[in-house]
Amino acid sequence: MNSSAAPRVAVIVVAAGSGSRLGHILPKAFVEVAGRTILSRSLDPVFALADAVQVVIVAPADRLAEAEQLGSDVAGSASAYLTVVQGGATRQESVARGLAVLRASVQTVLVHDAARALTPTAQFDAVIDAVAASGRGAVPGLPVSDTIKRTDMLGIALETVDRSELSAVQTPQGFPRDQLERAYAEAGHDATDDAALVTEAGFPVAIIPGDPLAFKITTAWDLRRAEQELQPATALALPRTGVGVDSHAFALQPDEQPLWLAGLFWPGENGLSGHSDGDAVSHAICDALLSAAGLGDIGSTFGTDDPRFSGARGEVFLTETLRMLGAAGLRIGNVAVQLIGNRPRFAARRQEAESVLAGILGAPVSISATTTDGLGFTGRAEGVVAIATALVYPA
Ligand code: CTP
Ligand code: MG
Repeated sequence: MNSSAAPRVAVIVVAAGSGSRLGHILPKAFVEVAGRTILSRSLDPVFALADAVQVVIVAPADRLAEAEQLGSDVAGSASAYLTVVQGGATRQESVARGLAVLRASVQTVLVHDAARALTPTAQFDAVIDAVAASGRGAVPGLPVSDTIKRTDMLGIALETVDRSELSAVQTPQGFPRDQLERAYAEAGHDATDDAALVTEAGFPVAIIPGDPLAFKITTAWDLRRAEQELQPATALALPRTGVGVDSHAFALQPDEQPLWLAGLFWPGENGLSGHSDGDAVSHAICDALLSAAGLGDIGSTFGTDDPRFSGARGEVFLTETLRMLGAAGLRIGNVAVQLIGNRPRFAARRQEAESVLAGILGAPVSISATTTDGLGFTGRAEGVVAIATALVYPA
């Protein structure tokens, strides 16, 4: 915030309510949402505004010092423009007490519910701009999507209200200072928002587009919704699947090297060639896991010219992949692999291979095997192919 000029705009943040509908032991503005109080979060967009703004926090009588501390923590170097005052018995009284401490330079006043803790800065900017451009009050609102019924005292439905005429209004509500002060001076009854009083005082108020994120935390359900909105996006995107394919050729000379496949040693079989031990099943699994985790692939991770992996067992790659997933906060849900080739005859050792690989990964591994009816390099027993899929989820 630029604090070089006397503020022409003030934001009164009303936070003095008890929050009876939330039903928390603390006053609502001092309840935490994802690790920070509702009041503190509601001040983020206010102190992020580009221009100098006087910020008035209206707090419960026994929490003035706490509100002052929260406010100056969020304000940083802009704290010179922070004022904390004690609230009243109703929202309207609380706003009136905020109005009483405005600086002389202030010409536009925004009134904001602390309970709308996730309101974007853009909504404040839009209200300030609309008041500046029109010289009128401006209030953000959203169209109503439910069908609205008027009911009698017994809860019996009367007529349907035409919702195209309705707007669900939010805060901040902005007004030229003189209009808001007149409206409060003349207020004859208790209203739940400021626009009602300004309209009754005879000043037009425009509705501008609101934002669903500016919803008011009123009930426990709203508090859970706010918590969910603050979850990191990556966590919401999970669990994730991945895919990996690998193929290796059999060594040209029988007995040139031993066969290691699916984590098992296969005595008497011709080995697979490659920089490592050629275990296509283990390699395909690594690729599927890295793919699910968004961590690249086995070639870019281990490097075929890295001497540490020369002749390395599949287990080395699997263990390192598992470590990388753990460091990224991920666990494996399961792994499924299909081995394609004529040799070795896999069925007899399938369960053994599954339990060795599941033991390394700490997650279920299922392996199936098939041939290609004599077609292609797998059909001619020149090599094998393995295709794996994996599921990972946040630890
Ligand atoms: N508010 C206030 N002073 C009051 C009553 C309300 O400053 N005497 C503030 C609240 O802190 C809130 C905003 O006005 O930020 C909107 O009011 P509401 O959501 O109704 O909050 P509460 O009155 O605290 O909640 P409830 O009506 O459930 O008791
Ligand atoms: Mg209330």
